[in-house]
Amino acid sequence: MSAASREAIVPSLAAMYQTFFPIGAAVEPETLVSQSDLLVTQVSSLVAENAMKWERIHPARGNNLSSYAFAGADAIVAFARDHGMKVRGHTLVWHNQVPAWVFQGDAGPVTKSELLSRLRGHINTLLAHFQGEVYCWDVVNEAISERAGEWRTDSPWYRLAGSDHGGDGIPGYIEKAFEYARAADPAARLFYNDYGIETGAKLETALRLMKALKAKGLVDGVGIQGHWTVFGPDAETVRRAIQSFASLGVEVQITELDVSLYRGGDTSVLQEPRVDLLSGQAEMYGSYFRVFREEAQAHRLTGVTFWGIADDHTWLDSFPVKGRKDWPLLFDIRHRPKDAFWTAATW
Ligand code: XIL
Repeated sequence: MSAASREAIVPSLAAMYQTFFPIGAAVEPETLVSQSDLLVTQVSSLVAENAMKWERIHPARGNNLSSYAFAGADAIVAFARDHGMKVRGHTLVWHNQVPAWVFQGDAGPVTKSELLSRLRGHINTLLAHFQGEVYCWDVVNEAISERAGEWRTDSPWYRLAGSDHGGDGIPGYIEKAFEYARAADPAARLFYNDYGIETGAKLETALRLMKALKAKGLVDGVGIQGHWTVFGPDAETVRRAIQSFASLGVEVQITELDVSLYRGGDTSVLQEPRVDLLSGQAEMYGSYFRVFREEAQAHRLTGVTFWGIADDHTWLDSFPVKGRKDWPLLFDIRHRPKDAFWTAATW
């Protein structure tokens, strides 16, 4: 079969999953061009890989419109609008990719009240700018540490505005961020987003956080990032996490899915994707998507977003080992479907 006719018969994942959940992908303004072939056919939802993060969208001190740089994010939203796609917003509060000025006062570190007022200005501006275009926001990202499920105390947000407000043990800045977002756009669905919350102490803390925020009407969903590997977590572990969160009455999405060929902590380097690893990856994707379908049918899962779409553009090429190639997505570097595509697409 010619390459052209093989391409013509690649089915659309978004179409196949239409009755289950939107299929999303993280994009950069540049990948809207370099990966447009796959984006327009394969996905029904977009998220900005970086363009809505504070350092990109609000680089300059202050809160007048000239402190903001909307062009990249606007290009992504326009692409989504042109192609009938939804948009997730990522992310309002994170310890990374925030310009230094946010945490600086006139003399020394910013005060807590000034920091919260800057945060409120940022949230108000973004949610107003994207109102009606961005249907949900990752309001707070990665606030739980890997250490025994404690709060991420080394975050500037925690250090400067972490003291508890509500008496329920939830760091003040988290609750404030959700309050500001709720007030700014009551129609937006508000998410807490994190990695490693499938099991153990991080899961317990995330459940506690969701329960407390939900009791105050401040949160609608949880994003399980889904930066997984050929070696795990296994699909049943993921299912149990989805069910635990759903039992609190919040929606659950997989928000940053990719499946690395490297085991966590492994720093070895592969020159090529090994065939046994690619078939292991296909098996993992197949078992994850089976769980996703079943949990969606039970109304416990409402979205699956990949962190990219094809192996020519993946953050795992620079994380955790800079310059090491990884092949974590459903399409290869030439945009051809991998075995993992077919296991995700077949049932
Ligand atoms: C990553 C981007 O993919 C990279 O381009 C950037 O250099 C660093 O951030 N968890 C998240 C995402 O919530 O925002 C991160 O994105 C990946 C991990």
